[in-house]
This record gives sequence, structure tokens and C-alpha cells, in this order.
Amino acid sequence: MYDFKPAEPLETAELHRQLLAAAEALTAGEPDAVANMANVAALIWEFMPDLNWAGFYRVAPAKSGSADELVLGPFVGRPACIRIPFGKGVCGAAAESRATQRVEDVHAFPGHIACDAASASELVVPVLREGAVVAVIDLDSPRPARFTAEDAAGIEALARLLAERI
Ligand code: SME
Repeated sequence: MYDFKPAEPLETAELHRQLLAAAEALTAGEPDAVANMANVAALIWEFMPDLNWAGFYRVAPAKSGSADELVLGPFVGRPACIRIPFGKGVCGAAAESRATQRVEDVHAFPGHIACDAASASELVVPVLREGAVVAVIDLDSPRPARFTAEDAAGIEALARLLAERI
């Protein structure tokens, strides 16, 4: 049985090792994407200190029909903007480039979409399935430069685990 919350503050590499193990255990054998995204958003929230938002945007059809865009998925935090076109904001940049965006100062990021004025730094990691982006994992922090390269690598490992589970 995994304890789904660290008992004490953890060093970053160990934190990500335990977070990945907990996510693996919680999503194993469960085919429901919403359930898995909801539990993983909650896990990230429990494991990673100094967050004010943690969750998912999924790639889904735009209301107008034609192009896909990012649509809000399960998250922990304040209510957030629902639809983000590819290329817009930090999430849209991650989806368009299919590359992790680690932003130390969101106010210096061109086109950053402020859902919560408290956000100061942000990490967005695409979830790729057969090379195509199917979702992004979005983490916000009120602390500038909150996210390290080690955090990015940890969330990228989580994204690889989730690729076939969401
Ligand atoms: N700040 C994001 C928008 C999503 S919220 O942070 C939850 C962005 O610029 O894409």
C-alpha cells in the first residue's frame, strides 16, 4: 500500500521517484482517463510544495469544430480558463512545440495567460502518444523560479507513464 502523501519533506529526486511510484500504483489497470487525471493532479498537489495550481489540459476539438485546442481537464487549484488555442500562453506553447516549457517568471513570458494573479512561475509538460500531443500537465507556483530541471525531468517521466492511461 502506498502512502499517497510524503511523510516528511523530500529531496527533489526522491520526491519524483515516490510521486511516479504512487501514480503508477493509482492508475494501474484503470482505463478511465478522467479518474486517472484527477488522481494524478491530486498526487502532484500532495507531493510538490509551493504550488497554487496543478492539473491537465486535454487536446480536444474547438467549439467551432475544425481545429483542436487545449480544454481544461481535472485539476487542483482555483477555477481556470477553459480553452487555450495551440500557440497561446505557456500551455499553448508546450502543446504546439511538443516540448516542456519551464518558465521562471511568467510575467516575462509573452502571451502568458494569467488564471490566478498569484502565479509567478510555471512548468508545462506535454503528454505525447505516438508523437502527438494528447494533453499537457500544467503546474503553477506563487514562488518565482520554483521549478528546477529536475522537476521538469520528473514530470516528463510522469507524462510518459500517463501517455497510455489518459
Ligand atoms: N498560465 C497558463 C494558463 C493556464 S493556468 O495557469 C491554469 C498559460 O499561460 O498557458
